[in-house]
Amino acid sequence: MTSQAPTLVPGLAGIPCAESAVSYIDGQAGILEYRGHRIETLAAQSNFEETAWLLLYGTLPTADELAGFRAKLARYRELPPALLATLAGLPKDGHPMAALQAGYAALGMHMEGKLASRDEDIALLIAATPVMVAAFERARQGQPFVAPDPSLDTAANFLWMLRGETPNVLESHVLDVALVLHADHTMNASTFTARVVASTEADPYTVCASAIGSLKGPLHGGANERVLIQLEKVGTVDRVRAWLDDQLATRGKVMGFGHRVYKTKDPRSFVLQTLARELFEKTGSTPIYDVALELEKAVVEKLGEKGIYPNVDFYSGIVYQKMGIPTDVFTPIFGISRVAGWLAHWREQMVDNKIFRPAQVFVGSHDAVYTDLAARG
Ligand code: SDX
Repeated sequence: MTSQAPTLVPGLAGIPCAESAVSYIDGQAGILEYRGHRIETLAAQSNFEETAWLLLYGTLPTADELAGFRAKLARYRELPPALLATLAGLPKDGHPMAALQAGYAALGMHMEGKLASRDEDIALLIAATPVMVAAFERARQGQPFVAPDPSLDTAANFLWMLRGETPNVLESHVLDVALVLHADHTMNASTFTARVVASTEADPYTVCASAIGSLKGPLHGGANERVLIQLEKVGTVDRVRAWLDDQLATRGKVMGFGHRVYKTKDPRSFVLQTLARELFEKTGSTPIYDVALELEKAVVEKLGEKGIYPNVDFYSGIVYQKMGIPTDVFTPIFGISRVAGWLAHWREQMVDNKIFRPAQVFVGSHDAVYTDLAARG
């Protein structure tokens, strides 16, 4: 059989690497579905816990299933004190995403093999993620750890643990919708990472510790933090176009724009834009929202025909900043949500697993001659 020389596809763009029923994107029409449900419907009517169950188990939970899942999450938010001490001992000037990666590895050291089933490990990982993010944040601010409140859901508990104040209903709702929006997104880089590590039969704690590393990158989940930095650099509406011209002249990327799959506006950014507008209307506007609107207009004018439009990261940072969340905690919030998607894909990968081992196009040389050290000039 003559082996055809493999053709390189940079970034595996458009190359299917698995079959999945978890989520679906139509990049031309700007459609995102979780298990067949349109993201706009889930954002309007669901909540993070229900959406996590839907992604993991394929159908909306019954009232009993949802109540049982919520109770399990509440129990698993009580983390081992030694783990909290580990998080508190991490370098205060380290990035919260690195702290979360260390947290997943340490959680696995405490818990792998200790729980009754993998469903328990999944619930623990979803419950523990916001607690670990908040615990590190409190420690690096020199503030005491705030224990989770079993009466609060994931979004409200995170705000409670982050600030030590009862969160208001609007902010809890806005964050809950943001968690619904970020929970899964077909074969993105961090989910692909999760599936590759899962395919080696590594445990789910290791899968999450790997996927969070992928999400940290500025071209992926790390973009939301950089969107805020870039909007603050632009400063005012009247500086938008000059800034954009400079950025494009140096072939710089405009963070929060563009997508490998969407060639129209990301449906999630419509929802986040509405949330931002609601927040600003109710709690007072800041120039940054106007700068963002003007930047979106300018970028679409210049790059729209290349299919470059706002993605999920463009408006999420504005929402989180308005809620007083530190900029470098934006991406960990992405992780608080996406851990549900990674674990849904882990479950799927384990059904009919085959270890990922792609090919390469060899561009090196053969028959190299070994010379002794002394003879190497
Ligand atoms: C997320 O995959 C997912 O689903 C991810 C995600 C999820 O939910 O998991 O949706 C979350 O990661 C959203 C993306 C967040 N990242 C950013 O906002 C960073 C800025 N965006 C770009 O880096 C870029 O758009 C990517 C990485 C998102 C997509 O890159 P591609 O598909 O590899 O496209 P490319 O880099 O090859 O760009 C194609 C062309 C290039 O121009 P030419 O060389 O053809 O002239 O488009 C240009 C690029 O320069 N381009 C941009 C741009 N994005 C693409 N130019 C300026 N600003 C941008 N943002």
